[in-house]
Amino acid sequence: MFLLLALFSICINFINADILYYQPEQIHIAYGDNIYEIVVTWSTFNGTEKSSVEYGIGGLILREEGTSKLFVDGGAAKHSQYIHRVTLKNLTPDSRYVYHCGSDQGWSNLFYFKTAPDRADWQPHLAIYGDMGNENAQSLVRLQEETQRGMYDAILHVGDFAYDMDSNNAEVGDAFMRQIESIAAYVPYMTCPGNHEESYNFSNYRERFSMPGGTESYMYSINIGPLHVISISTELYYFLNYGIKPLVFQYEWLENDLITANLPENREKQPWIIVMGHRPMYCSNTDLDDCTHHETLTRVGLPFLHFFGLEDLLYNYGVDLEIWAHEHSYERLWPIYNYVVYNGSYERPYVNPGAPVQFTTGSAGCKEGRDNFVKPTPAWSAFRSSDYGYTRLKAYNATHLHLEQVSDDKSGAVIDAFWLVKDVHGPYARSKMDWGKVDEMRLNNFKG
Ligand SMILES: *[C@@H]1O[C@H](CO)[C@@H](O)[C@H](O)[C@H]1NC(C)=O
Ligand SMILES: *[C@@H]1O[C@H](CO)[C@@H](O)[C@H](O)[C@H]1NC(C)=O
Ligand SMILES: *[C@@H]1O[C@H](CO)[C@@H](O)[C@H](O)[C@H]1NC(C)=O
Ligand SMILES: *[C@@H]1O[C@H](CO)[C@@H](O)[C@H](O)[C@H]1NC(C)=O
Ligand SMILES: [Fe+2]
Repeated sequence: MFLLLALFSICINFINADILYYQPEQIHIAYGDNIYEIVVTWSTFNGTEKSSVEYGIGGLILREEGTSKLFVDGGAAKHSQYIHRVTLKNLTPDSRYVYHCGSDQGWSNLFYFKTAPDRADWQPHLAIYGDMGNENAQSLVRLQEETQRGMYDAILHVGDFAYDMDSNNAEVGDAFMRQIESIAAYVPYMTCPGNHEESYNFSNYRERFSMPGGTESYMYSINIGPLHVISISTELYYFLNYGIKPLVFQYEWLENDLITANLPENREKQPWIIVMGHRPMYCSNTDLDDCTHHETLTRVGLPFLHFFGLEDLLYNYGVDLEIWAHEHSYERLWPIYNYVVYNGSYERPYVNPGAPVQFTTGSAGCKEGRDNFVKPTPAWSAFRSSDYGYTRLKAYNATHLHLEQVSDDKSGAVIDAFWLVKDVHGPYARSKMDWGKVDEMRLNNFKG
């Protein structure tokens, strides 16, 4: 009897041992509170005793510990995984770090990332896109190649990730996160939520990514060389079933962030203010999305009351560039405010434009395919393409940004390119920026 029990318990142990998954997967990195902090995030299907990253310049000489959290998807299968996060702080500028993550129960492959030089003349180069998907991820191969060749300093994925991360009991989310590891484990992969992340109150988005700012990756800003990049959730305007509070919070947070970014000592260092969010305020596509309407919710705010409209806010605080996705196409606008085009000086529309410059880049692939455009082209639309592809942004200096649209249909050819040139940054001519508030913040800043 005793022998039988002992045998039985050995068997049970054996079976248990068989179903222990300590091996890290879905490894990705993001900037922490500044670009010299990197947050490493990964999953294991069983809990591990520790969440560790071993790393260093040229070898695994340092070790940092973090935390893990059980994430249970909202689907019927209650698909579960542990999501681990470790923040590497005070990284040395201009260095190539190697790292692996996991614990003494299992380590990942070896990855690397490069930190930015700590010089005012650093020229960050970003890749930007939305709506990529797990199936039909058209831009992925070129992005992998270019990322691993060291072309980019960071990636901005402007919402709509896997189509959808919660699909098939979140197995699609796992597959997507494995698929982008070839990019996202090497350069900071910075995100904002899209409508395809909505299920279960955006839990797959909030749990899987680790953006700075302490708002479950909903809203944050990060300084990348001369760029002040702000990421927001446009979805808070559309899924009011989760309450209006997060939207009110975001609007106030955004105004405060813009005021701080406009303090002269800050705007001198980061002259370029860039806002990214998933849904555009303007588009000329043939579908029924909100951006095809005149009174887009994000643009003018909530119906009737017109509270929390973004167009006025971004215009008043002198935002330079606005990046959207959601439409499965690329569309660049002339500088626009409230349906009026304010081109720049010397008849060059993007030289000291009179309003923010906006473009939509949501054509990295996905199983829903492409979106087409209405005819004729509206007067405010400068360039449109339904080719699959993504955008490159290079910040040359305080006065020059260069943007390119890459077409995957045309073997990586650049189908659109433009310079955004600004001799001065700040509020536009008709801006109603509250300089009183800026001065107040300035005083508080000096006091605090
Ligand atoms: C390990 O993970 C598997 C798969 O999620 C699960 O079935 C099993 O119960 C877990 N075992 C332990 C000891 O947590
Ligand atoms: C949705 O999640 C947020 C946290 O991101 C929480 O504050 C809010 O209460 C949730 N809403 C509902 C309806 O569950
Ligand atoms: C803006 O500039 C473009 C290119 O020069 C031109 O086609 C367009 O008509 C201009 N719009 C306005 C309102 O000046
Ligand atoms: C900024 O970069 C542009 C493009 O390379 C260059 O033409 C311009 O001279 C630069 N300006 C300064 C002040 O370096
Ligand atoms: Fe979308």
